Amino acid sequence: MKPFLGPVLVILAQWARLSLGQGYPFTAEQERNANRTLSVGYVVYHGYTILDVFGPLQFLSDLSWPFNITLSIIAKEAGPVHSRPPPHHGPDGSEMDMSKMVDAQIVATHTFETAPALDIIIVTGGVGDLTLMEQKDRSIEDFIASRFDKTEYVLSVCSGVGFLARAGVLEGRSATATKSVWGYVTNFGKNVTWVPSARWVRDGKVWTSSGVSAGMDMMVAFLRHVYGDPVVNKSVNGVEYAAVVDPNWDPFSVVHKVPGANMSIPMQGLVGPLKEYP
Ligand SMILES: *[C@@H]1O[C@H](CO)[C@@H](O)[C@H](O)[C@H]1NC(C)=O
Ligand SMILES: *[C@@H]1O[C@H](CO)[C@@H](O)[C@H](O)[C@H]1NC(C)=O
Ligand SMILES: *[C@@H]1O[C@H](CO)[C@@H](O)[C@H](O)[C@H]1NC(C)=O
Ligand SMILES: *[C@@H]1O[C@H](CO)[C@@H](O)[C@H](O)[C@H]1NC(C)=O
Ligand SMILES: *[C@@H]1O[C@H](CO)[C@@H](O)[C@H](O)[C@H]1NC(C)=O
Repeated sequence: MKPFLGPVLVILAQWARLSLGQGYPFTAEQERNANRTLSVGYVVYHGYTILDVFGPLQFLSDLSWPFNITLSIIAKEAGPVHSRPPPHHGPDGSEMDMSKMVDAQIVATHTFETAPALDIIIVTGGVGDLTLMEQKDRSIEDFIASRFDKTEYVLSVCSGVGFLARAGVLEGRSATATKSVWGYVTNFGKNVTWVPSARWVRDGKVWTSSGVSAGMDMMVAFLRHVYGDPVVNKSVNGVEYAAVVDPNWDPFSVVHKVPGANMSIPMQGLVGPLKEYP
C-alpha cells in the first residue's frame, strides 16, 4: 500500500459512516462502539459447522471497514482447525467415521491461554462437540466461564449454545438452539428458559441463535444493535442477503416438531417436513 493511502482510507471510512448515519438516532451504546475498537473472539474446534463461522464473519468483515474491529480465531491449539468432524459415536453408540467428508480449514490465531481481551465472544456449533464431550474436554466451557464476566457480548450459533449452557452462564436466562437436535442441546444447563420457536434470542448480553443459517440473521440483528441500522443495512444489501428480521419467525421449529413450537408459523417457500414412508 502506498504510504498516504492508509490515512485516506481511514478518512473515507469515517466519511462513509458519518454520511450514512445523518440524522439517524444512534443510541449511546452505538456511539460508543463506533468510537472504539471491538475485539472479537470466534471460538472454534475440529468439526465446526462451516456456515456457523463464515456466515456471521462475512458481516463482521464488512463492518470492519467503516468501524474498527479485530478478530481472533480461538481454539485449543493454534493452527489449522478442521470442519471435518473427528471420529465420535452417534446417539445409538455406533462409531461415526466421517473421514470421507470434505474439509474446510480455518486457522486458529490464538489458544484459550493466549487469547487477548475480548469484547465479543462467538461460539460456533458443530458435530465436533460430540467428540469433545466423549473426551470430557471442558476447555471451551472453562474458557467461556473464565471470560464471561469480562466480555460485553456473548453469542452462540446452532449447537454452540451447549458450551454456554455447560459453562453455567445461561442460568436464569432465555436461550434458543438449533431445532434439528433440540432435545440433545436443551439437556444442558440449569434453569435455562429454552425458547422453542425463535430464530434467535437475546437475553441481556447473551445472544443465541437457532441452526446454522440463523447465525447470519442473529449477526445482522446483533450488529444493528451494536452499530445502528445505516451501515449494517448497507452491508446486508451489499451481500444481497435476505435477512430474517423477526426473531420469532421459526418454521424450522415446526419442521423438526419441537415440543411447544408455535405451529401456526407459515412454511411457505420452505422444504417442508420430510414425508414419512412406512
Ligand atoms: C464519536 O465520534 C463522533 C465523530 O468522531 C463524535 O461526534 C461523537 O461525539 C463521538 N461519540 C462519543 C460517545 O464519543
Ligand atoms: C481506527 O483505527 C485507525 C487506525 O488504527 C485509527 O487511526 C482510528 O483513530 C481508529 N478509529 C476509531 C474510531 O477508533
Ligand atoms: C430461574 O431463573 C428465573 C429467571 O428466568 C429466576 O426468576 C428464578 O429465580 C430461577 N430459579 C432458580 C431455582 O434459580
Ligand atoms: C434496516 O433494515 C431493517 C429491516 O429491513 C428495517 O426495518 C430498518 O428500518 C432499516 N433501517 C434503516 C435505517 O434503513
Ligand atoms: C405464532 O405465530 C403466528 C404467525 O407468525 C403469530 O401471529 C403468533 O403471534 C405466534 N404466537 C405466539 C404465541 O407467539
